[in-house]
Amino acid sequence: MNIHKQAIGVFDSGYGGLSILNEFLKELPEYDFIYLGDNARSPYGTRSYDVVYEYTLQAVEQLFSMGCELVILACNTASAKALRTIQQRDLPKINPNKRVLGVIRPSVEEVGLLTKTKHVGVLGTVGTVRSNSYPLEIEKLYPDIKVLQESCPMWVPLVENNEFKTEGGQYFIKKNIANLLQKDPKIDTIILGCTHYPLLQEEIQKYLPNRINLIPQGEIVAKSLKDYLKRHPEMEVRCSKNGEREFFTTEFVDSFEEKAARFLNSELKARHINL
Ligand code: DGL
Repeated sequence: MNIHKQAIGVFDSGYGGLSILNEFLKELPEYDFIYLGDNARSPYGTRSYDVVYEYTLQAVEQLFSMGCELVILACNTASAKALRTIQQRDLPKINPNKRVLGVIRPSVEEVGLLTKTKHVGVLGTVGTVRSNSYPLEIEKLYPDIKVLQESCPMWVPLVENNEFKTEGGQYFIKKNIANLLQKDPKIDTIILGCTHYPLLQEEIQKYLPNRINLIPQGEIVAKSLKDYLKRHPEMEVRCSKNGEREFFTTEFVDSFEEKAARFLNSELKARHINL
């Protein structure tokens, strides 16, 4: 499918990346964006490295074939498991001028600016936690910061099914937060290391002591993209700017439109696509 436009591609396993896109639209409204959610194969968080890599590469190639020059993996799981291989092994073969960026590095940069105790918590999917990407990246930039992680396998299904306000939903949110804080009571900063979790922010805050900072991943990634475009004028001129947005899902279009409207707080039209 060729859309003949050099939109910025935004990819997630499902709806979570819309929390990142939402911030892109505030920070960079003039740019064109194509959002692709692989809802049919979500969640990625419990899948193996090979599967997440293969699915993510298919999505990136799809977005490239639609005209995108720059693709953001608005998914921590895909950023943790597929980004480096795509950047180092695949891009030079596919097209060395195109770029794929992730969400982990910009979030990590912020950590050192916020923590005072130097004890940081990460909440994420099983895949992101197992990959150890956050502790490894934090170690590179801030070797004196201690990182504790907690995987929250129920949280993505709770968001996807809009069940997080129920008694069952609250049980899992409270339990995972308590587990994390029990691992290290000195934690003063928490990264919501999954793009689905901002939808749970209100619920999460209920179970967190006030002294704990939550890192707003969407805003950080949006600022980082803006900064990237400033530092890379050769890419910036290749991104089209008509303020247009297109949405694709690998699942049912009607349920995508309905749920995506909750993330973006506005109505939208989506199209189906097979990867
Ligand atoms: N939104 C994805 C992330 O940021 C995870 C959702 C999933 O498990 O597919 O990690």
